[in-house]
Amino acid sequence: MSTQQQEPETQEAPEDPEMKGAQSPQDRRLAEKESGAIDEESEKKAELEGETVHIKVFRYDPEVEGKQEPRFDDFHVPFEKGMTVLDAVIYARDEYDSSLTFRHSCRQAVCGSDAFFINGKQRLACKTQLSELEQPVRIEPLPHQEVVKDLVVDMGHFYDQMHAVEPYFQDEDTPEVSDLEEQHQSPENREKIKMSSRCIWCGACMSSCNIAAGDNQYLGPAAINKAYKFAMDDRESEEIKEHRLRILEQEHGVWRCQTQFSCTEVCPKDIPLTEHIQELKREAVKKNLKFW
Ligand code: SF4
Ligand code: FES
Repeated sequence: MSTQQQEPETQEAPEDPEMKGAQSPQDRRLAEKESGAIDEESEKKAELEGETVHIKVFRYDPEVEGKQEPRFDDFHVPFEKGMTVLDAVIYARDEYDSSLTFRHSCRQAVCGSDAFFINGKQRLACKTQLSELEQPVRIEPLPHQEVVKDLVVDMGHFYDQMHAVEPYFQDEDTPEVSDLEEQHQSPENREKIKMSSRCIWCGACMSSCNIAAGDNQYLGPAAINKAYKFAMDDRESEEIKEHRLRILEQEHGVWRCQTQFSCTEVCPKDIPLTEHIQELKREAVKKNLKFW
């Protein structure tokens, strides 16, 4: 179904030649569409000439009769240099179908709320340039997660796994509040955990992981990376580190990882997830080595 193909209106919109020059391509396309000047053929032509991009967006709404069957909707969005996939879906929602539902917030790869499955790969929509994608651009919710509506997935399980690794700094000898002092970290140690601290909880890695897809209890790359951040932090004691490794070496922990690298490939923050998981495996082995 294309929400683009509206009935042509009989009355032509008056055109001010001076104003036309000042309009953005998006405003111009919208005005042309409203005046009925755009039909399917000119839509194709505009797409070929790079004036529009064709996006195919997954739609599903379990609460509305007639929309419970998953489908794709086509939108032809006016293209401007520098446009991202998020810009395109926002335009489609604002101008063509206000019921199109998806999460987004910061628009600068910080909040992690707009990870979608775009042209067959988990990506952040606000970080993905339309010009780099083949058309039609296919936009789907993250695989292996329950779809709530359209592009919105239930992140509950992902957050549970993140919390399972106790993602907060722990120190057995925490001084009284009145004696609190800065806890210094060496520059080398900061460098070691720097990449692991970049996670924005977008869930792209978890969605790309075959192991997580087949084992619902697997902690998953993001949670293991979060545990890495703390386990490798020199400011935590050896006892706490051992406690963390015990969580990680359990049946659904690090040993489930088969080093497929899919998580590392999709992470929008370039975190070397597979490398971190392998390092934790080595730490777990070292912890269990006994010398008689
Ligand atoms: S590790 Fe990367 S892909 Fe996974 S949740 Fe964090 S930022 Fe997203
Ligand atoms: S909108 Fe915040 S990461 Fe994309």
